Amino acid sequence: MSAIRKVHVKSYGCQMNVYDSRRMADTLAREGFVETERPDDADLIILNTCHIREKAAEKVYSELGRLRVLKQNAASDGRQLMIAVAGCVAQAEGEEIIRRAPAVNLVVGSQSYHRLPDLILRAAREPVVETEFPIEDKFDHLAEPTPAAIRARGVTAFVTVQEGCDKFCTFCVVPYTRGAEVSRPVTKVVDEVVRLAEAGVREVTLIGQNVNAYHGEGPGGRAWRLGDLLARVAEIPGIERLRYTTSHPRDVDASLIGAHRDIAALMPQLHLPVQSGSDRILAAMNRRHTAAEYLRVIDKLRAARPDMAFSSDFIVGFPGETEVDFRATLRIVSEVGYAAAFSFKYSPRPGTPAADRTDQIPEPDKVARLARLQELIEQHRRAFNAQCRGKILPVLFERPGRLPGQLVGRSPYLQPVQAMAPAALVGEVANVEITAVGSNSLFGSLEASHSVSDARLATQRA
Ligand code: SAH
Ligand code: SF4
Ligand code: F3S
Repeated sequence: MSAIRKVHVKSYGCQMNVYDSRRMADTLAREGFVETERPDDADLIILNTCHIREKAAEKVYSELGRLRVLKQNAASDGRQLMIAVAGCVAQAEGEEIIRRAPAVNLVVGSQSYHRLPDLILRAAREPVVETEFPIEDKFDHLAEPTPAAIRARGVTAFVTVQEGCDKFCTFCVVPYTRGAEVSRPVTKVVDEVVRLAEAGVREVTLIGQNVNAYHGEGPGGRAWRLGDLLARVAEIPGIERLRYTTSHPRDVDASLIGAHRDIAALMPQLHLPVQSGSDRILAAMNRRHTAAEYLRVIDKLRAARPDMAFSSDFIVGFPGETEVDFRATLRIVSEVGYAAAFSFKYSPRPGTPAADRTDQIPEPDKVARLARLQELIEQHRRAFNAQCRGKILPVLFERPGRLPGQLVGRSPYLQPVQAMAPAALVGEVANVEITAVGSNSLFGSLEASHSVSDARLATQRA
């Protein structure tokens, strides 16, 4: 086998894939692989794929078409390029991938990444498909990032605390591609965040397909809820900001609402997907809550933390959706006044119950509804950004901006903020007076006199 040295990992889909890609790169680093940004430079290319909508899944095959050419070129230079497909398409389609794209050497499902070193050795000899859900916990076997790797990735980080989903919304492939809900034990999460903080990370986002269904084993054996975990992680020295995503409305419990009231480091921003504003469609989606119940959850969170802002996901054109149902979705957008939202046309996914329904919505209707919804969402997003003008927002500076002397950071609401600031402020939270609002970013000037603890107080006032 030729010496494989450089690995290029490309992520599609959600934050879970971004996190997994990093852990794969860390695990391969232990085997002597160096990460490269450039696919044409790599000896191993891993596509970490997403199966959520048809478009996302098909993207993989067009990319594999390009990689086949790259592989042929490498071969004519006497180099062996290995192509691996990981993630949710790998889990869902398995061998079918190699049938459609014979250039692929390895298909590896989302629960087997810790076996990569061995799988790569085998795949050098013959095509390998590994899509089992192994009994051992991959997180116990994946390598930790080195402090240098953490620093290279910046001052914010994702940490997976929960994986999989038991909810079975009728449109969604995640319960099949990621398997049953599993939570990592509290001490494992805390140890990982301590290491990140020691290497300079200041903001941690706890992630999971259903993160607020978290029920990890705590010290002493009792299962902890997400609210308990957030309180513990907030105590870790160096951690200035906490977030979590993605949540399900049914799992917003008293401990989580209490966390928003009590934990200053927990940012007043929450992605809480509702999908539809129509009770009939919510029932058909098996979301197991009504629009009114969702709005009550929003009210409780706002009562606990008045400066809370929300974002959501929406699906238009779910089978059987009428104009009346769709208007209920428009109504809930205005009722909540989302700071941001993602919206998608319903995409029938193989193996999910909604895909078999005979009352599918014609494509032109989906297109028209999506455009109407997106226009309304955009109005609310602009209004939310506009009311930030004149406010003082604490900003965690992440990196140099485009102009000399400028830094870019994020507000508590995840808005990019640009300000003239000394480079030493990267990794610090500082107060910024918002002076102008662009289409995507806020612009402001630094309040030099404010310290980090003042900045936290301002979060609560904002
Ligand atoms: N666990 C999260 C969402 C995971 S998928 C939750 O429960 O909210 C991310 C988003 O993709 C979903 O919120 C949904 O809006 C969208 N999505 C999922 N399946 C889809 C499908 N078949 N067609 C269109 N959008 C879909
Ligand atoms: Fe999919 Fe529903 Fe689970 Fe979210 S809660 S991952 S939408 S099945
Ligand atoms: Fe996509 Fe899998 Fe995430 S289907 S959204 S990559 S869990």
